[in-house]
Amino acid sequence: RIKNIDAIQVFDSRGNPTLEAFVELENGTTGSAIVPSGASTGQFEAHELRDGDKEKFLGKSVYRAIENVKGEIRVELVGKDVHQQEEMDQLMIELDGTKNKSRLGANAILGVSMAISRALSNAQGKSLFQTLTDGGGTLLPLPEIQIMGGGAHAEGSIDIQDFMIICTGAESYLQCLEMTFNVFHHCGRLLKKKGKLAGVADEGGYWPIFDSNEELFEILLESIEGAGYSLGEDVQLSLDIAASEFYDNGRYHLNLDNRSLTGDQFYKVISGWCKQYPIISIEDPFAETDTLNWKRFTKEFGNKIQIIGDDLFTTDIKRVKEGKEDKLANSVLIKLNQIGTVTETIECIKQTQEFGWTPVISARSGETEDPFISHLAVATNAGQLKVGSFSRSERMVKWNEILRIERELQEKAEFIGEKIFSFAM
Ligand code: PGA
Ligand code: ZN
Repeated sequence: RIKNIDAIQVFDSRGNPTLEAFVELENGTTGSAIVPSGASTGQFEAHELRDGDKEKFLGKSVYRAIENVKGEIRVELVGKDVHQQEEMDQLMIELDGTKNKSRLGANAILGVSMAISRALSNAQGKSLFQTLTDGGGTLLPLPEIQIMGGGAHAEGSIDIQDFMIICTGAESYLQCLEMTFNVFHHCGRLLKKKGKLAGVADEGGYWPIFDSNEELFEILLESIEGAGYSLGEDVQLSLDIAASEFYDNGRYHLNLDNRSLTGDQFYKVISGWCKQYPIISIEDPFAETDTLNWKRFTKEFGNKIQIIGDDLFTTDIKRVKEGKEDKLANSVLIKLNQIGTVTETIECIKQTQEFGWTPVISARSGETEDPFISHLAVATNAGQLKVGSFSRSERMVKWNEILRIERELQEKAEFIGEKIFSFAM
């Protein structure tokens, strides 16, 4: 049973304040977890409560969320059986009383929810991937790894947020990492040689300086081939357009070439890329409210490209069900803090799988040293994981955790690589 719940303010990979929650059981077992934070957030996401006091951490401190954990949430949950995660998550949702968890803060609720999962796994003396779901999971995810970053994660850089690769030719999880390592380093050398490297973007990928989004494709393709891999077989491209970020008043505003495009014109740009380059997966190709283009795009490409809704679905089972009804996509990005409890996140993953769609478990651009999502990916047999680039410890801790899980699973570990893609509409 839960004896105490506590929280402190710690800092994420951008140095911004975030919340770490602690759950202590009567038998002395504890569990803790740190909440991540996005930059290119969708308008339908659960509410991240920040103090907004300009004198404190430029308004970004989370002391009110911490008070809510130590106050109302603690009072509600002390004495509860740690096995009752679903019941406790539901109690927090009801206690909050708003649609988007804005009263107590999704960061307060999620921190406690994740810490409860940890306390339970610690109490059972098992790893989190074994206790998050009934019976746990055995499927190691196919990684989607960023090579170059832009958008809201590298101001003034490229418009597209993530230029990533998926090693569809890899036969093991480790081989994916090795291939990515080779492409990543090859790309770094190329950018340096061409004088196009500005630094590192928020998720650890290169922050390039280019005049057009298309030049990025050329560099990426050159990096893959230069590293010795065949395009479209060994390695394929994956993009997160994060289009909501540059959509305004019915138009897509591309910074780089100073173009303002109608939905129809932007559709032609995106579909042109999909025909020209070996793109296996594309996320948020259109704004979360531009559903007509989502629908049209899924109809044209949904049987050969994974079309992921991130801002479109915000890990919200209701939005996923509507999206399935309307045939808007064929895949769902899964972020715990978009919805705010572990229970709702797992329900959303299961619903996605029941539809024959693919869930992609994802980190945020503001990440932490907590590898919770690696366990979530394996526990649910989700099959795919996206945590940013192949550098910086807040990213590497997630990739490395899968290696540890693989070691623990021994011969039970499964890897099916690109066979995870279903392209069901
Ligand atoms: P975010 O970016 O965490 O800034 O939202 C990640 C993504 O868009 O997938
Ligand atoms: Zn995204």
